Amino acid sequence: MVTAVINGKAVLEHGVASVSLILDGGKIRAILAPDCDVSALYPGCGIIDAGGQYVVPGGVDGHVHFGGFGSVPIADDFYTGSKAALAGGTTTVVDFCEPGEGEDPLECIRVRKDFGRDSAVDYALHYTFTEDYRRELPRIPDILDQGITAFKAYTYYPRTSLLPGDFRNIMEVIHDKGTLLVHAEEKSIIDCMKERFHPESSDMTALSLTRPNIAEKIAVESVLAIARETGTRLCIAHASSRETAAIRRRERMAGNESFILESCPHYMQFTRKSMEGPRGALYTMNPPLRAREDADALMEAVLREDISILSTDHCPYSKQYKLGTNYETVPCGVDGVQTRMQYYFSEAVLKRGLSMEAFVRMTSSNAAKFYGLYPQKGVIAVGSDADLAFFDPALSWTYTMEDVAGATDYSIFEGFPLRGRCTRTIKGGEVVMENGVVTAKKGSGTFLFTK
Ligand code: URP
Ligand code: ZN
Repeated sequence: MVTAVINGKAVLEHGVASVSLILDGGKIRAILAPDCDVSALYPGCGIIDAGGQYVVPGGVDGHVHFGGFGSVPIADDFYTGSKAALAGGTTTVVDFCEPGEGEDPLECIRVRKDFGRDSAVDYALHYTFTEDYRRELPRIPDILDQGITAFKAYTYYPRTSLLPGDFRNIMEVIHDKGTLLVHAEEKSIIDCMKERFHPESSDMTALSLTRPNIAEKIAVESVLAIARETGTRLCIAHASSRETAAIRRRERMAGNESFILESCPHYMQFTRKSMEGPRGALYTMNPPLRAREDADALMEAVLREDISILSTDHCPYSKQYKLGTNYETVPCGVDGVQTRMQYYFSEAVLKRGLSMEAFVRMTSSNAAKFYGLYPQKGVIAVGSDADLAFFDPALSWTYTMEDVAGATDYSIFEGFPLRGRCTRTIKGGEVVMENGVVTAKKGSGTFLFTK
């Protein structure tokens, strides 16, 4: 059935326009001037009146973990994570597959796609290299055949810690085949810092203090140098420090657009102060929360669009697994997929004057472009998927646990006052969320080939 979205302020690539959007067969079929009589042009079409709200492309969250990451269960699986995503205007996510010990890369991809069958958002996958990457590299043609061109590597993580030489080996192979997302924290700095703290310290600020800014800075400079040498398109995952923001500024000023940053709301909103006391474990992720100066520098970087991709690293664990642990054993990761677009609409657009076009670039188009999903995703254009989110700037509200559409039992954004609200999400031309109620069916999302 044809649906017309009328009376919206659509955020198109080249500006905000009062237009009518015609949705048909899951795609945007036409963009019409507001005075066109859509009922005459498309007799019997459904009408959705946006009531003057902003209409933006459905969000693309380039970094989520929906279930099955490590030994402790992630609170959201693909279905509950999808519901949370849709509640906040996100219609596409990029998740990860990482082979287990000795596991064949294709088997790992098969298992991950099988998990993804429950998804109600469209999803793509990153392939994560492990320390066994020499066995994995020859499988790159098969991985590409599976529709995966987004690669990820870590400088420091269990089973996936790679050194500069390893990065060079990897980038020499993948530089002309896809993109590389890097979790950048220099292992030797962290290992030395850990010697200064009691290993069983339940003071979670130790997580932050043992992973200082300099660890991120050294790792970023190192992988950047290799990316430059090999001509690899590099994105730093979850940039968390003022130093990393400054490196991107420097590179941008020098015209290097092959190097970009991703960051997440928690790094702009919270500091290691939140990690103090008995509830500190609820604010643990890697890289960790840092100082107010870092949070402010990152928000500044958003306002200047020095950060290209605003994602979440959504990786929530239930309180039972977080509380009562120490800084070495706490499962790291927090929620974010539901609040991501809401947060930037409130804090960057309405409070700090970011343009709606920039909001759209950073919350959807840039990720879609970097991962080769554009123009199917990330833009309101004729022929693109009919994935839309409505944002009402006039509503103010406080995010509570009653709003949580996923399966998390706490949120770092619980009690957070927000300006503006995502009131409706449309995916593939169907309304899948209205006023917080998600109606998307389990399994209605599809796997997307990145290019
Ligand atoms: O603490 C985090 N970030 N957990 C998720 C894994 C990752 O590094 O992306
Ligand atoms: Zn992550």
